[in-house]
Amino acid sequence: MSTTPLNRMDLPHLVTALPGPKAAQLIARDKAVLSPSYTRGYPLTVARAEGSIIEDLDGNRFLDCNAGIAVCATGHCHPKVVAAIQAQAAKLIHYSGTDFYYENMVELAEKLQSLVPGGGPRRVYFGNSGTEAIEASLKMARYHTGRERFIAFLGAFHGRTMGSLSLTGSKSVQKKGFGALLSGVSHIPYANCYRCSYGKQVETCNVECVKVIEDQLIRHILPADDIAGIVVEPVQGEGGYVVPPQKFIDEPQSVAAKYKIPIIWDEVQAGMGRTGKTFAVEHFGVNPDILALAKGIASGMPLSAVVTKPEWMQWTPGAHASTFGGNPVAIASSLATIELLETELLENAQRVGNSMLGRMLEWPKRFRHVGRVQGLGLMIGFELVRDQASKERFPELRDRIEAMAFERGILILGCGPNSIRLCPPLVFTRDQAEFCLDTLEACLEQSQESST
Ligand SMILES: Cc1ncc(COP(=O)(O)O)c(C=O)c1O
Repeated sequence: MSTTPLNRMDLPHLVTALPGPKAAQLIARDKAVLSPSYTRGYPLTVARAEGSIIEDLDGNRFLDCNAGIAVCATGHCHPKVVAAIQAQAAKLIHYSGTDFYYENMVELAEKLQSLVPGGGPRRVYFGNSGTEAIEASLKMARYHTGRERFIAFLGAFHGRTMGSLSLTGSKSVQKKGFGALLSGVSHIPYANCYRCSYGKQVETCNVECVKVIEDQLIRHILPADDIAGIVVEPVQGEGGYVVPPQKFIDEPQSVAAKYKIPIIWDEVQAGMGRTGKTFAVEHFGVNPDILALAKGIASGMPLSAVVTKPEWMQWTPGAHASTFGGNPVAIASSLATIELLETELLENAQRVGNSMLGRMLEWPKRFRHVGRVQGLGLMIGFELVRDQASKERFPELRDRIEAMAFERGILILGCGPNSIRLCPPLVFTRDQAEFCLDTLEACLEQSQESST
């Protein structure tokens, strides 16, 4: 059990063994009635939360480096977000913006238009989840190009509905048993620079991995004028928190411009301040054709948005819509979220994220099981390897570190085959960051000793 003083409400404090008795009871009830498809890594039951602190049913306090999987950007139950939700709920909860008009839906669309890089007019489609934003983007790209096929990346995660799932290239279990998906999706390698199959270092890199779009796919298999879109995560999330080099982002853009193919930038995980900028594409100077947003956009309320240049959203009434998409309460939460991003959280994500990354970049020198460390803002990942020389993946250790951290009151999650992601709320403080890294270092040290 934790020895953190009780009066530090911003740090973890454990009062029972885990799971505690109430947690264990809830988990047993959950097992009986909930879908076994959910992937629960460790037995965390959430009773309430504030800022970056989670309290479980037994009164244990945890430090949250998950943010509800990169969702609760403004921290849990930020008073300004709560006030915006309460005020809107007392005024109007729903009236289907697909068929009628209400003001805050227009207000948020105008706000997103003003924020998206590149300037100029934009159009916005609202949905409720990341996968819906991707489905809408796919339909839009097909509708406007009159073409059918897509290029996506290995390791990518774009969602689990049938269209998005066709693009997802993360884990085969996500596709197992679901039969035929969209035909005509080609998957190519993402920027796996740490394990470059061409044996290149960053300095000599010529992004051969992504040059396959033109050199192999278009040349041999996939006529350019059949391609409706290229779907890219500017920072790969579920696939391992991979930050690509600038050239990797430039290459598909030049192919897309040459053949008039739209690029769908999936910022469902990396967007809305997560990387220290409002949009991850800003790190790469991208002026996005089609930008898919969700997760952090409304800090925990279900909302997604597709923001496009006007030419990619000219479809006719009835072509696409969703009853709940752009719900007024979710939108009120989003407007409050964006205001907080602009006034304090982007700056905090950069500052705290940079200091965490700076410290973590030393880990491969200190811990023989830490491989690649990379990140932007408060989207940071590190790989676990058997040893530095072979870089052989060590997923069992990744799972062990996740469990050890939980036992010490730190909530982290895996991603990719052997990585751990840190995506705390953007209100994460320096003290919390240091506590988190001290704890993870203790876990790494212990695992190093036990594997000698
Ligand atoms: C990059 C990316 N796209 C799409 C999705 C799907 O979002 P949702 O789970 O809200 O459908 C996710 C979810 O993790 C994601 O990380």
